[in-house]
Amino acid sequence: MKKREDGGLIPASEITPETVYLRRREWIQDVATLGLGIGMAPWLQAAYAVPAWLQASVSQHRTRRVVTTSDTLTPFEDVTSYNNYYEFGLEKDDPAAHAHQLTTDPWSVRIEGECAKPGTYTLEDILKPHTFEDRVYRFRCVEAWSMVVPWMGFSLGDLLRRFHPLSSARYVSFTTLYRPAEMPGQRVPELSWPYVEGLRMDEAMHPLTLLAVGLYGRALPPQNGAPLRLIVPWKYGFKSIKSIVNIRFTSTRPATTWALSAPNEYGFYANVNPQVDHPRWSQARERRLPNSLFNPNWHETLLFNGYAAQVASLYAGMDLRRNF
Ligand code: MTE
Repeated sequence: MKKREDGGLIPASEITPETVYLRRREWIQDVATLGLGIGMAPWLQAAYAVPAWLQASVSQHRTRRVVTTSDTLTPFEDVTSYNNYYEFGLEKDDPAAHAHQLTTDPWSVRIEGECAKPGTYTLEDILKPHTFEDRVYRFRCVEAWSMVVPWMGFSLGDLLRRFHPLSSARYVSFTTLYRPAEMPGQRVPELSWPYVEGLRMDEAMHPLTLLAVGLYGRALPPQNGAPLRLIVPWKYGFKSIKSIVNIRFTSTRPATTWALSAPNEYGFYANVNPQVDHPRWSQARERRLPNSLFNPNWHETLLFNGYAAQVASLYAGMDLRRNF
């Protein structure tokens, strides 16, 4: 697929699940990068616990591929060693060092609120009817670093429809597991726990919004939010909540962790926007992983992280400066 001159915007028709791109060269790149990544990351071999059925189903479903950017993939090692997961500490290497302490099997997700089929569903119940896809997405953190990741999962909307949301459901909120015994960061009040996030219903149902169960063809490593996390590629990374245990349909706008912590810095929408700076830094550029002193790997930040053609209509008529 060609990157367009407007900075990589790909028409909506090209990212819908019907359109699948099997690109041999990229597959080879993935496999090579994956092999290298594992070779250089001994901690990863200290096996992270993945239920056999989950790894099997992730491996079996590697047939469909949706590519939304021609940018080079960020190596597996960087994606899995430079993380934000405050439940395991504030430093970027804390999650890779500590998140393996988290028990992710068994796992269940409670579905609540304005829907006809609430209940507690096991991870298997949640995943069974869905076909996983590789989705190569740009991912932009609010801290002005970014990466390009072959996530694996399926559209969140396909899951939400199974619970028959009522017309009163205008938002969806998500909650991360609260288990201070295994999540040392939750023993200190750095953020208000558990981590919560939310989307407007139309954002949640958008086909780009991904419920991820893997990356680089493997089940999610714990530091990336095993066993189930959100990926909303046109929003800053903090919207992409990890290790989800609760999904609630609501009629009113739900609270979100970072907005609770600093409402003037982290808005509900959090759409990537190079023209709206964070109060403490510019959002005009980003440093793509990996980078170094000699290769800073700066990229221009794109409106909606390059997904404007697909999502700008969701915000038609809204002042993006006020609704940041
Ligand atoms: N989810 C939880 N539960 N806790 C967190 O601290 N950090 C967020 C998001 N989801 C976070 C979270 C932020 S700020 C970012 S940038 C991304 O996760 C990082 O995802 P990654 O570590 O897979 O790159």
